Amino acid sequence: MKLKKKIVMLPGDGIGPEVARAATGVLQECAREFAHQFEMVEMPIGGAAIDKTGNPLPNETLDVCRKADAVFLGAVGGPKWDSLPVGKRPETGLLGLRKGLGLYVNLRPVRLIEPLRGISPLRPERLGDLDIEIVRELAGGMYFGERGNVVEAGMERAFDTESYSTPEVERIATFAFQRAEGRSRRLCSVDKANVLTSSQLWRRTVTSVGAVFPAVQLEHMYVDNAAMQLTLRPTQFDVLLSTNMFGDILSDAAAALVGSIGLIPSASFGTSAPLFEPIHGSAPTLAGKDAANPIGSILSATMMLRDTFGLGLEADWVEQSVTRVLGAGYRTGDISEPGTKVVGTAGFLELLHQEMQRTFEHAEKYGWGV
Ligand code: NAD
Ligand code: IPM
Ligand code: MN
Repeated sequence: MKLKKKIVMLPGDGIGPEVARAATGVLQECAREFAHQFEMVEMPIGGAAIDKTGNPLPNETLDVCRKADAVFLGAVGGPKWDSLPVGKRPETGLLGLRKGLGLYVNLRPVRLIEPLRGISPLRPERLGDLDIEIVRELAGGMYFGERGNVVEAGMERAFDTESYSTPEVERIATFAFQRAEGRSRRLCSVDKANVLTSSQLWRRTVTSVGAVFPAVQLEHMYVDNAAMQLTLRPTQFDVLLSTNMFGDILSDAAAALVGSIGLIPSASFGTSAPLFEPIHGSAPTLAGKDAANPIGSILSATMMLRDTFGLGLEADWVEQSVTRVLGAGYRTGDISEPGTKVVGTAGFLELLHQEMQRTFEHAEKYGWGV
């Protein structure tokens, strides 16, 4: 089936444009080989948008994204804009985009890529065949709660509020249970219900949503213990559900288990266009050095292909090609190990496209899946 889709690319800052280019290349090659039409438009966000328009999320960027079939983001932020107050920073642009697109689900799969087993900080018997899905609430919690700066008795006080309503928890919990139903039917909900009232509501609500999913085994865990268990025995987890803040932190920790944050993709869903972005940031020290790992970005593009466009074959084609290039020993610096060949971002992409071509020609001759 030939598809016609409009994709908005938001390259952003630092290594954002370098990894977004990698995703664009892969999407264009899919379109070419499978005769899809992907219309791709690039819009400013983050620091780049501040420099251009004074606003980290120009109205035009949000408008164009709302009308798209899918949105792709590289990364935002960097030292140039670090002295700006919360509200005017590049990161505020990303939060505004998520809010503006009604994105309340952020799905972050953390999966071992077999050729990279050796770079995990965990021993092989602890790492197992790690395959976790982190479901992070994306539209609420402390990121969007009441905040402020006040002066009390001559002293400054600043505050951010963690707050969740029952419907906000219900909708993200429902998504997480559905994911668990399609996998090993185990869901671990992470909170801090021994301290936070918002977490008590979270736990109660997740439990009551669970009544609708009797086949899914639900467990609750405090976030401090979850951080430890992730490092100690990560294979106990299947789908891990948490708040915006805890989900942010736990997903970076989980990324380390499979070798690098540069490997992890994400997909966000809600009431408007879905957003795809690697979970890493703008990595300022790597920017412009041809050293960024593009795999998290490429796998975000394959999530777009598979989960939103229904193009499983195309996604498999790209993912298997990535695994083969890694299997042949080619690595960006962050995932290198003795005996491997370190290549830059551009070099890795060149090898990937050669591998994709080889696989494609083979499949055309002998059939897909052979
Ligand atoms: P970061 O993810 O940019 O970097 C953390 C570490 O991981 C660094 O050592 C970096 O070099 C490395 N790293 C990250 N991505 C990599 C890749 N693709 N290949 C190889 N190595 C990679 O996080 P940070 O340093 O805390 O933040 C830097 C900036 O990025 C900040 O301005 C922050 O606000 C922003 N940020 C943006 C996003 C986003 O746009 N989604 C996410 C996180 C952080
Ligand atoms: C992420 C980032 C963002 C977040 C920042 C840059 C706003 O850390 O996408 O994980 O905290 O959500
Ligand atoms: Mn983060």
